Formats: sequence, structure tokens, C-alpha cells
Amino acid sequence: MPSTFAVDLEKMSRTANTGLVLLLAVFGAAGYLVSFYFHFVTVALFLLVLLNLYWRYGQTSHTLLANFGFLAQTRYIVESVGPEFRQYLFASDTEERPFTRVDRAEVYRKAKGIDSSEAFGSLLDFDRDEIKLRHSFYPVDKKDLEPFDVAVGASRGLDTTFHIRRPMMISAMSYGALGQNAVRALARGAKLAGTVMNTGEGGHPKYHLMEGCDLIFQMGTAKFGVRTEDGLLDEDKLSALATLDQVKMIEIKLSQGAKPGKGGLLPKEKVTAEIAELRGVPLGHDVISPAHHIECKCPASTAQFISRVQHVSGLPTGIKFCLGRPDEFRTLVQEMKRQDTLPDFITVDGGEGGTGAAPKSFMDHLGLPLFEALPIVHRILEDEGVRDRLVMFASGKLISPGRQLEALSLGADVAYSARGFLLALGCIQALQCNRNTCPVGITTHQPHLQRGLDIADKARRVANYVGALHHDHVELLAAMGKSSSRLLTQENVYLPTGGPVSPASQELS
Ligand SMILES: Cc1cc2nc3c(=O)[nH]c(=O)nc-3n(C[C@H](O)[C@H](O)[C@H](O)COP(=O)(O)O)c2cc1C
Repeated sequence: MPSTFAVDLEKMSRTANTGLVLLLAVFGAAGYLVSFYFHFVTVALFLLVLLNLYWRYGQTSHTLLANFGFLAQTRYIVESVGPEFRQYLFASDTEERPFTRVDRAEVYRKAKGIDSSEAFGSLLDFDRDEIKLRHSFYPVDKKDLEPFDVAVGASRGLDTTFHIRRPMMISAMSYGALGQNAVRALARGAKLAGTVMNTGEGGHPKYHLMEGCDLIFQMGTAKFGVRTEDGLLDEDKLSALATLDQVKMIEIKLSQGAKPGKGGLLPKEKVTAEIAELRGVPLGHDVISPAHHIECKCPASTAQFISRVQHVSGLPTGIKFCLGRPDEFRTLVQEMKRQDTLPDFITVDGGEGGTGAAPKSFMDHLGLPLFEALPIVHRILEDEGVRDRLVMFASGKLISPGRQLEALSLGADVAYSARGFLLALGCIQALQCNRNTCPVGITTHQPHLQRGLDIADKARRVANYVGALHHDHVELLAAMGKSSSRLLTQENVYLPTGGPVSPASQELS
């Protein structure tokens, strides 16, 4: 039985549609009898009546408009501004996705150099599903903490071994996904903070190089910047790039958490003439990278390819992937051991990772979450006896010091973030990275939107953010009774029984 309070849409729309015509008549008469100025409204109403007739009888693609006309249009308008209304007025501080207001506020405060202490109590849950860090009865004196220092390439005895001195680096984001002001602000901020920035898979890192920071050059599956006409590795281009003083490491992207099994995607709206030139692609088309490197068809060819990049570049070289099947990873590690060639680092990207653009079904359904994948990758490397021959980076919503130390306890050596740094630049989570319309000028190439992003100001925020994260890293480590993050193990986190980390890890036993 219909509810007594149900809205009678048909009656409302009849009233609205008739009311519109009546209003037109009233204003028409007033314009004629009282003052000519009423005709301004008459004209507007006349156009609306014509539009209403078109919606009702002229178009066929929207059933609601055909059935209810003008009234249905108000529904579309309200629906289109719904996200903004919810974000500003109705969503609670812990509700929004991917990052809640509480998450974002912490980054904004750190980036602005505002004290982030709070009163009364945590806004987060303290139920049985939360991963928490374990503190110690015997905190370490902060002055006894070892300086953060992770050496990449040391186990191969490379002259080019690189020392990472901050627990947090800027994860891959290309010039293309980001506008030039954003890239330059991040690069300048990285230089100020003494951290490292990944170039993303955008080809020659023109804007990344401008600000003097240390870089990890990313080679995506399309190999922009270092490829031959056929999409294979161009060794001359790679070795030329590797001689650039700022390029310290090479990351071969096998896959990415937001779209594992699919290559990078840059929508055509964001392909400017300069980007097309830097990547060597035509204008006016979406830029879609292959799902995998042509050279990497099986464990043997993948191991050979990594070794080849190591030798051509002479730099510490690693791979980035999102974990799918642990058995495939184990086989790859075994093959690497057989060929006696291991990457210098591995980047594990969680399925919850961000992207400039990806198909929704890939974002939502593929790839293990970071806190599932890390212990699995760590354990396979240990089982195979090679964990101490390489360094592990991790990414996937590691935007707070607590989450970073949790990742370090679960097996990582250094945390990476992309979206944490976008928030530091002033990202308001408008979710428009794929449209070239980013309102805060970060993921857009439109000059009028980039105008407001002041490179010097935002670079300071990036540096403040890294500084504050490092400060909290030290404080938390001391409270956990550890003199170095190297000493962290799974024992240092509380993993809820039946919670996020256990089920996939069981695949190993
Ligand atoms: C705007 C944007 C562009 C990205 N571009 C790349 C890319 O070029 N290559 C890549 O491997 N990952 C790319 N990523 C993924 C990030 O490097 C990172 O792996 C992922 O977002 C997880 O980190 P987060 O949760 O801190 O954002 C991009 C992410 C964002 C948000």
C-alpha cells in the first residue's frame, strides 16, 4: 500500500508545468499594463516554457524529463551538486572517501606548520578491527635514535648506491597527470625537505628536473622517454638519462594498485602539445600504455629485463607492482635467484592506491590492499633468503605517521605517498583528476586554474609536511622503544584477529 506521505510526483509536476505557463501570463500582463521591465522576466519564462516543451515532447534520452518536465530538471541539478553539499554540510569528519576529513586535516595542518595536537579524544575507532602500533614500557630517549638512513644498491656494492634520509618519499606522478606548477612545487618541496621524488611515467622529466631535487625515474610499460619506435627499451636513451646528476634510481613499473593488469591512462583532454612531445605520442587521443612491458612475458624474461636495466643505467633499479597472486611472486623471486639478479628495491603498491585516471572496476576490485600484501611479500623474500639483499618501499594511503610506521612494521623500509603530497599542495578531494578541471590547479593544464597554485608557497608546505612526518616518526619510534625503524617487526603492531591482515597471509601457510 502506498505510504500516506508519499510525494505525488505527477500532481506536483502538473502544478509546476501549469504554474510556469500561468507565471508567464502574469508577467506578460504586468509588462504590458504596469512596467516594461517585467518583460525581462517574461522573456526568461518564455524560454523556460519552450525548453520545458522540448524536455517533455522533443527529447527521448531522459524518461524523467519526458514524464515530468521542468520539475525533473531540478532533481538533476540537486543531484549534480550533491557531492559538494554532502562534503561541506552533511558528511561527518570520519565518513568521506578515499580520505576522511580527519585524515585530510592532519595533512593540511602539518603542511601549514600548524600544531596538530587535539583535545578530548581520538575521533577514530578503537574497536577490534583497528590496526594499532604497540608502545613499550621502556621508551627510548630520542637522542639515542639512529638517523634514518636506507641504502639502496648497497648489496650490489654499487658506486651509485643511494642513501634515503627521510622515511617518506613522493610517489610516482607524471607531468601529464599533474600540471607543471604542481610538479615544480613538489620538486622544490622535495629539495627543501631533503627527500626524493618519483617522476611517474611521463617521459623526460623536464619540470621535475628544474628544481634540483633527487629523482627516481619511472619507466612505465610504454617506456615514455626511453623507448624505441616499437615500444622496446632504447638503451642509448636510458643511459643518457641515467647520467643526469639528479636521477638517482630507476623504477620499472610492472603494475599499480589502482589498475593492476592495465597500463597508464592519460585522457586526451590532458594531452597538451608539450606532453605529446615529451611522451612521443599523437595529440587528440587518450594515451594508453600497454598492460605489461613487451620484454616481460614470463618470470625468466622479467628477471632478464630488470638485470638489463640495472646494467644499462648503472643505477639502483627496482620494480613497482601491486600484489595479486603470491605464488606468482614467489616464482619470480625464485627465477631471479636462479639468474642471480635481484632488483635493488621493490615498491609494493596497495590496491587502495590512487591514480590520475583508471577504470572504476579496476580501482574497486583488483589488487591486494597494502597491509595484506606487505607481510606476504616480506615473508616470501625471507623464505627465499633474499630479504636483506633489497629494500622495500610501500604506498597506499600512507599519509599519516602512524600508518607509515604500521607499514614499516609490516615489512617496508621506506614509505611513499602520492595523494598525501597532493593534499599538502591544497587538494580538496574534488575527484576530478581525470577531467583537466581540478579546481585547485594541481591535476590540470589550464593556465587559469594553475594560476592560483603558487610554487614557492606550496613547496614550503610540502617541505613542512615531510618535516612534520619525520618529527612524528621519531616521536612514535621512541615511544615504541625502538632506536631505529630497521628494528620494527610485525610484533610492533596489533593486528586484529580475523582483521585486515590475516586472511591473505594464510595463503602462504
Ligand atoms: C594523480 C596521480 C598520478 C599517478 N601517476 C602514477 C604514475 O605515473 N605511475 C605510477 O606508478 N603510479 C602513479 N600513481 C600512483 C601513485 O604513485 C601511488 O602508487 C598510489 O597513489 C598510492 O599512494 P597514495 O595512496 O599515497 O596516493 C598516481 C597517483 C595519482 C594520485
